[in-house]
Amino acid sequence: MAESFNATLLPHAKAARYAALAEEIASVLEGEANLTARLATVAAMLAQAFEHFFWSGFYLVDPARPDELVVGPYQGALGCLRIAFGRGVCGAAAAERRTLIVPDVEAFPGHIACDARSKSEIVLPVTDRNGVLLGVLDVDAETLAAFDEVDAEGLTRILRETFGGWPAGAGNGTSPQ
Ligand code: SME
Repeated sequence: MAESFNATLLPHAKAARYAALAEEIASVLEGEANLTARLATVAAMLAQAFEHFFWSGFYLVDPARPDELVVGPYQGALGCLRIAFGRGVCGAAAAERRTLIVPDVEAFPGHIACDARSKSEIVLPVTDRNGVLLGVLDVDAETLAAFDEVDAEGLTRILRETFGGWPAGAGNGTSPQ
């Protein structure tokens, strides 16, 4: 695993770190089509790559309750188990299907405080090859304004490359295309 970086990274260094990380993740997941394995690996590799990532992981659409997200693979302190669509940052990102960068969670209406140490966060929608919403990626930090457009671009690329081909097409082995 490559070295870890903190929140003081300059934008170009952070972009380079994301680019390298995207390749590392693709390499580790090559040939692995299991969704849980892919989600868990992304959560773990994000947590290891950026030391200011206090919480990194997924809230997934619950097939049994399609208006609700249920916690998926993550790294960090205990997370809330369920979040209704439209509630908090994760629920809003899922309902609106757009990336939300929140520099101060206290200022976000309806923010869900799973852990009081989280001060800022970025949440991105995760969609599959058919454009179906799988859930959201949530990354939290203990400092204010820890995330910016460089994080959004880097994480978007990782999500697109990791889940944009899922589920794998029939008859093409195990690797999502
Ligand atoms: N902060 C999120 C809740 C999830 S946790 O922080 C892990 C939100 O408001 O959606």
